[in-house]
Amino acid sequence: MKFFIDTAEVSEIKALIPSGMVDGVTTNPSLIAKSGRNILEVIKEICALVDGPVSAEVTATTAKDMVTEGEFLFGLASNVCVKIPMTWDGLEATNALAAKGIPVNVTLCFSAAQALLAAKAGAAFISPFIGRLDDNGLDGLELIEEIRTVYDNYGYETEILAASIRSIGHMKDCALIGADVATAPPSVIRKMAGHVLTDQGLAAFLADWKKTGQSIL
Ligand code: G3P
Repeated sequence: MKFFIDTAEVSEIKALIPSGMVDGVTTNPSLIAKSGRNILEVIKEICALVDGPVSAEVTATTAKDMVTEGEFLFGLASNVCVKIPMTWDGLEATNALAAKGIPVNVTLCFSAAQALLAAKAGAAFISPFIGRLDDNGLDGLELIEEIRTVYDNYGYETEILAASIRSIGHMKDCALIGADVATAPPSVIRKMAGHVLTDQGLAAFLADWKKTGQSIL
């Protein structure tokens, strides 16, 4: 499963790169607002750091304007993936951009029916927001399972990019179900490395090692 980092904080992305966990980055207008930075500067900076796809979201609401914004964003760097909301205009824009060879991540997906439309429109990625479904008493992981089945039934190449991830459990379950990508905040990815038994085991190994009086170097 590929890991994308869901942030517009350049320093956090930079800090994760040496671990090999950064296959791409996703941003959205809220994350750009939180960074307090100019979208064009941030996207260019992230694209220069990361080899994989970097999602930059359009803010227009008509198909025509989404295409214009999408083309402009794609012109910033060759690894920009244009993020487009799951609306009818968004589907038309996705279809138009995909026809020009511009990769699109269809975002704000909350149903398998929406995911089917996005695949037919030619989206490179579909972003089901699992945490927001859970927040509303629904089952985000069930949606990932449904989309996996639909896409596998017909051989759609659109990648399932599980988004709105809140926990280690979400990451593990997305991998078990077969999501192609999961995008998560840096804090969730870092937490995945932790386990109380790892901490206890390491403390015991180091204590025993100290008793030997040896050093490897
Ligand atoms: O990539 C979409 C994601 O950022 C949404 O996450 O936590 O705002 O629901 P959240």
